[in-house]
Amino acid sequence: MGYSDTLLKGQKAIVTGASAGIGEAIARHLAAAGAAVAVNYRSDPDSAKKIVEAIQAAGGEAVAIQADVSKEDAVKAMFAQALETFGTLDILVNNAGRQNDAPFTEMTAEQWRSVIDVNLTGPFLCAQEAARLFLKQGVREGVSRAAGKIIFISSVHEVIPWAGRVNYAASKGGIEQLMKSIAQELAPSKIRVNSIAPGAIKTDINRESWEKPEAEAELLKRIPAGRVGESDDIGKAAVWLASDESDYVNGTTLFIDGGMTLYPEFADGG
Ligand code: BGC
Repeated sequence: MGYSDTLLKGQKAIVTGASAGIGEAIARHLAAAGAAVAVNYRSDPDSAKKIVEAIQAAGGEAVAIQADVSKEDAVKAMFAQALETFGTLDILVNNAGRQNDAPFTEMTAEQWRSVIDVNLTGPFLCAQEAARLFLKQGVREGVSRAAGKIIFISSVHEVIPWAGRVNYAASKGGIEQLMKSIAQELAPSKIRVNSIAPGAIKTDINRESWEKPEAEAELLKRIPAGRVGESDDIGKAAVWLASDESDYVNGTTLFIDGGMTLYPEFADGG
């Protein structure tokens, strides 16, 4: 994998929305680096079970935990279950997210809320539970220099406006200030809070923009690096951001987008 399988030794993690896509890759990579991982899912127990089994077959430790992250009681129950299983917690990855696109003038309040609830309120609730735990627990000597790490999976759309998806773009723009404000508040307590902002990564959420060659060619016009990203690109970065290798990194968004945020349309004119 390119990093040591003891980098996160003894650490316990929750990854939300880990039954597919980017969340699945993050769960696998954290486990491969030595962390015990709670694979959170909302509605697909079979996929979550498969991921847990794959992690275990590779010699790692994992458990599947059901919860809708937008519901306060469900979040509390998920953390209680993770604590009961692992005893402690060191890493939260707020990955669960969704799109529900519509032109602005046609978007219903329900469409707006459904995305804000999962993409912004969910991460708020999970980060709050994690922070309460980390504050109580403090630094676990010999395990990590931090009392805990919180990683938000944001998007390039925390800075790139997105017509027809104002709910999604607003949720990700919100993540930027949620992450930074929490980081500012908790850094003195040795809790590190950061984001990863993926660009176009091949998952189900954007399948229609990369599956057919013509669609992929169109998408590649926006990616200077010349390839659509893979979930593993994000999984590897999450390991680094969760580890002491990044101990001085606080309140930062790491864009992993093949250059999508570089205004590629300006490369040959302006
Ligand atoms: C969205 C994808 C999109 C990518 C780049 C992500 O946050 O979920 O649908 O392909 O941003 O635009």
